[in-house]
Amino acid sequence: MSYERDIIRDMQGYTWGEQPRDGDAIKLNTNENPYPPGPAVAAALASFDVATLNLYPQPTADQFRALAAERHGVDMENLLVTNGGDEALRLAFTTFLDPGSTFATTDPSYSLYEVLAAIQGCSVLAVPLLEDWTVPRNFAQALNDAGARLACIVNPHTPTGVLASVDTLSRVANEFSGVLLIDEAYVDFVDAAQRYDTMNMMRAFDNVLILRTLSKGYSMAGLRFGYLIGSAELIEPMLTKTRDSYNVNTIAQRLGCAAFEDLEYAEQTWRRVRSERRELRDSLLKRGFAMPHSQANFLLATMPDDSSTSASGTAAELRSRGILVRHFETPRLDDKLRISIGTPEQNARLLVALDEILAQ
Ligand SMILES: Cc1ncc(COP(=O)(O)O)c(C=O)c1O
Repeated sequence: MSYERDIIRDMQGYTWGEQPRDGDAIKLNTNENPYPPGPAVAAALASFDVATLNLYPQPTADQFRALAAERHGVDMENLLVTNGGDEALRLAFTTFLDPGSTFATTDPSYSLYEVLAAIQGCSVLAVPLLEDWTVPRNFAQALNDAGARLACIVNPHTPTGVLASVDTLSRVANEFSGVLLIDEAYVDFVDAAQRYDTMNMMRAFDNVLILRTLSKGYSMAGLRFGYLIGSAELIEPMLTKTRDSYNVNTIAQRLGCAAFEDLEYAEQTWRRVRSERRELRDSLLKRGFAMPHSQANFLLATMPDDSSTSASGTAAELRSRGILVRHFETPRLDDKLRISIGTPEQNARLLVALDEILAQ
């Protein structure tokens, strides 16, 4: 006899990227920031008063909410702080999707969405992206036709890195009759020249939620710290009803504030990642890989036409050399590798290894 709910027994869990603990591996598989957190975070941890841990944390992480409200030009009531972006997603699913209703996204997209939909007992409408990985014109219409109550668009998109414009997103928000969550996990790596900013859009549409995380842009994946921005009407039920009462622990609140306040340090890492993204892209193109322009901290590289090794074989060969990249066994992605942007040294070692593998 099984004690699990039927839908939990029948569903597949999320497949996370490999997290080796030996310090020698070059981790280009889970889109972390290759640079460590800045000195402000180390100082905050060193001065943290352990004696305060006998008390529960401030329930709604108000110190961080105040900082983020100022940074984004919104009110605190527009902000919800979460235990990583993943908790923000879970809250959106449990708050806005009735069991048995429809969740919608693009195909491909972040694979956790389908897992959360399954837990909630929802069906999934995954609308294929166009050949250039852009959102089809009839996206909102398809969502409305299926009666979708919540939709997620990752922007910049994963695994391709392609950026949808604010105009495209506004059109979807305007036409879609459910809640549109724009997952901006990778937004910090967007080139300033793109002038991408969804804050006005958030103010204009009461059905829009924006997801942010400190995991990537602020080098804090290990801390688990994310937040949602949206109309007070969308934020309030998650803040007061569906969230765990103390969802962000005291240490995370302290270090999250320290990382977020030291914008100058974070921006320095973003500039380095963008510049390495250009370099690595050029180097891969020269070797015959094909890939769209990425505005995220990774590249989705299609294997060269003349390569005798498959993408999965290449990922395995790289792995045997201590270099981890991500390969997806799905129809439109299985001839590609998703490669996170590393430090210049890591990227150089990747290229040497790829040259060896391609020459075989
Ligand atoms: C598209 C997307 N959204 C959200 C997340 C969640 O990030 P975290 O829970 O680390 O904040 C990730 C993590 O890889 C992601 O790729």
